[in-house]
Amino acid sequence: MYGTMRLLHPESRGFYEALVMEECIQRHLRPLHLHHPETHDHSLRVGLRAIDLGYANGLEGRVLRTLGYAALMHDRGKTGVPRYILAREGEVTEEEMEIMRGHVRLGFMLLSDFPNPKVRVGMVGHHEHTNHPYPRNGKERRQTIRNKSDRRNPDEEARRIGEIIAIADMFDALHSKRCYREPLSPDEIAKILAKQFKGDPQYIDQVLQWCERN
Ligand SMILES: [Fe+2]
Ligand SMILES: [Fe+2]
Repeated sequence: MYGTMRLLHPESRGFYEALVMEECIQRHLRPLHLHHPETHDHSLRVGLRAIDLGYANGLEGRVLRTLGYAALMHDRGKTGVPRYILAREGEVTEEEMEIMRGHVRLGFMLLSDFPNPKVRVGMVGHHEHTNHPYPRNGKERRQTIRNKSDRRNPDEEARRIGEIIAIADMFDALHSKRCYREPLSPDEIAKILAKQFKGDPQYIDQVLQWCERN
């Protein structure tokens, strides 16, 4: 699944392999695997890719751990999305899209007992670096700026974690084979990310390096 994945940093794989075996992660990955194996496998790849980007950008060990946990758990809430929606190949209805978007808030709730509380604060931002951010949009964020402790106003560490997971998540979706299409080419991935990723463009250059020998 990710054995041949090209990585930017030699230590990423070892770090990831130790993290993913921890019981606090396994107990959340099991239900995801039972519900939708493809989402489970995608979560593992996004976990490894996010850790790799973290290493490549010099994140220190404590932040790297939080990032790794959050990336592995980023779609935890998809256990609440019916399989028929997750498996949908074509267009989804607006109602189904609403249910799908709900996976972020559900994941936030399901991770309430996670030993590291920063994990869910970082995770909750993983769809907020695109043209159509959710669950918090720019308007909501501006309205709540008064309260700095509010989870809707992540600190710089949480914001960065959300941004790295976002690009790893988008890359993985574009680069993976789907039942209705082959993986996209590096040029196609570059074009889509340039249009849709609203974060630091340096991450785009870095993730494209994953393409070379995959
Ligand atoms: Fe997601
Ligand atoms: Fe995802």
